[in-house]
Amino acid sequence: MTPYLAEARAWQESWDRQQETYLPDREHRFAALLDAADAVSGDGPLRLLDLAGGTGSISLRALARRPDAQVTVVDLDPVLLTIAEASLSGRAAIVTADLNRPDWTAALPHRGYDAVLTATALHWLDGPRLASLYREIHDTLRPGGVFANADHMPSDALPTLTTRLTERARQRRAARHAAGAAQSWAGWWEQAAADPTLGPLVEKRRQIYPTGHSPEWTPPASWHLDALRAAGFSEVGVLWRNGGDAAVAAVA
Ligand SMILES: C[S@@+](CC[C@H](N)C(=O)[O-])C[C@H]1O[C@@H](n2cnc3c(N)ncnc32)[C@H](O)[C@@H]1O
Repeated sequence: MTPYLAEARAWQESWDRQQETYLPDREHRFAALLDAADAVSGDGPLRLLDLAGGTGSISLRALARRPDAQVTVVDLDPVLLTIAEASLSGRAAIVTADLNRPDWTAALPHRGYDAVLTATALHWLDGPRLASLYREIHDTLRPGGVFANADHMPSDALPTLTTRLTERARQRRAARHAAGAAQSWAGWWEQAAADPTLGPLVEKRRQIYPTGHSPEWTPPASWHLDALRAAGFSEVGVLWRNGGDAAVAAVA
């Protein structure tokens, strides 16, 4: 059973602030993903899968736009899912599943989603696994449904400029962390470890993600577009881009 977290909204907010130090345009990319979901939805409630959704940031924004949306959050992290469950408070199905396993779809409460959205997450998987995952995502969507993935995806056309933009952003971020203007990834996890409810879950998380992070496999957007085409999507393209990050979208 998920433990009760009294200050879920505060934890949700601090996660968002911490992520924004790495992704200053985070709200813009979320808006691009949610617009794509809106664009394909019909008259009924939007059926949305927030893949590797963490604390449910995308789900909360989807529900703010569409209070009747049927939302599923899938993730493996017990800390982030506890925050998601408490801050979404019964408005979303929370599913613990490992996207490295092809059977992750077995636990989903629906089939035929209108939209599968994911952000800053699939670089945790390696190339062969991600290519397979794209096929599995295709099969969770209804025909005409949309998948969108916003992540670190260097530009094929501007490799040198992208590297410089990424380095400039890294320097700015390091200065903000050094000055205490923003919280770092490591600092956020230290704070969570000190919380009486989240602390034991941080320990559990260490067993799941022993290195604490990901392999950081970040191929260019063209790799994703090729893999999405091979996965059976009928339309694929870049939906949004800023510097070294992009969102690719694909219609099932
Ligand atoms: C940087 S967080 C992003 C979370 C959320 N999408 C957001 O934008 O706030 C990356 C997420 O990917 C999830 N993730 C990584 N590998 C996973 C896997 N194999 N199965 C399920 N979730 C995974 C992590 O647990 C984490 O919640």
